Amino acid sequence: MAATVCGAATSAEANMTALNCISISDPDIQKSVSLLKQACLDSGFFYVINHGISEEFMNEVFFRSRKFFDLPLHKKMELLRNEKHRGYTPTLDETLDPENQVHGDFKEGYYIGVEVPEDDPDIEKPFYGPNQWPSEDILPGWRQIMEQYQKEALRVSREIAKIIALALDLDADFFDKPQMLGVPIATLRLLHYEGKVSNPASGIYGCGAHSDFGLITILATDDVAGLQICKDKDAKPRIWEYVAPLKGGFIVNLGDMLERLSNDVFRSTLHRVVLDGQERYSIAFFADPNHECLVECLPSCTSEMNPPKYPPITCAAYMCQRYNDTHLDLSSYVGQETRK
Ligand code: OGA
Ligand code: NI
Repeated sequence: MAATVCGAATSAEANMTALNCISISDPDIQKSVSLLKQACLDSGFFYVINHGISEEFMNEVFFRSRKFFDLPLHKKMELLRNEKHRGYTPTLDETLDPENQVHGDFKEGYYIGVEVPEDDPDIEKPFYGPNQWPSEDILPGWRQIMEQYQKEALRVSREIAKIIALALDLDADFFDKPQMLGVPIATLRLLHYEGKVSNPASGIYGCGAHSDFGLITILATDDVAGLQICKDKDAKPRIWEYVAPLKGGFIVNLGDMLERLSNDVFRSTLHRVVLDGQERYSIAFFADPNHECLVECLPSCTSEMNPPKYPPITCAAYMCQRYNDTHLDLSSYVGQETRK
């Protein structure tokens, strides 16, 4: 087993966690299923390697992300996120843990969703529509790189979802259905943490404690540590452990919709970002089901003795609720779009 644990397993730091490492090109699928299942029952976090996205390409995506965040604020504000959650989210826009934060998150972001033309008959749906893109004059070739990454990240998410399905005793293609990841709400989010020092004791965080809203999240980070997880969200006090960045690998975690579907068999895991003053870049890909998907307890996860713990809700309704709870109201930006 030790050979398949990577990251900071041998770190001298007591508060670094060791996570299972899943090679998604391993032909021994049963081995991957058992490592994943153990990881999901233990922490809800694991590393994924051998995913088929080259380090060169990842470097390129990070380089382009940096180029965007390097633009002057007024240029970024021209691409301020719209009501479909596409575009730029300024520092402090999101507050993931209002109870414990005195300010919003000290991070800025850029949301990219599934590209849908303006004349699509379903254009009224939330999280649905065209993306906002920086102009070709300013960032040539930027859109193509991001769209390519989006495609690759969705492929990797589907491969991971196959292993999750098997770990839940479902058919391997369970999450490939159109109402699941076949036609998903899938969101790529570039993130940039400024050099602000976090101070949990006084409610200052790069990103407040939260669990992700959807099915699974695939996170790529630079080599600056900062991500922390709490394996037992019901423990008091909560114990936080760092997750070490893994070059060439992704950090993957389970979201709240998987917790709801699996009736708490697989829990979503609290995490946050605590920084020591170094700037940090990360890229999250949120793989979430289709708008219409009814997120309800899977038949294999309930019994007479173990009734469903959560009421059914559609994916779109659930996502709207969670986004509204965590992001500033867009009206708070009125008149600010051209601020220098
Ligand atoms: C998130 C998140 C962690 C990171 O965006 O949901 O948890 O390392 N990000 O940026
Ligand atoms: Ni998160």
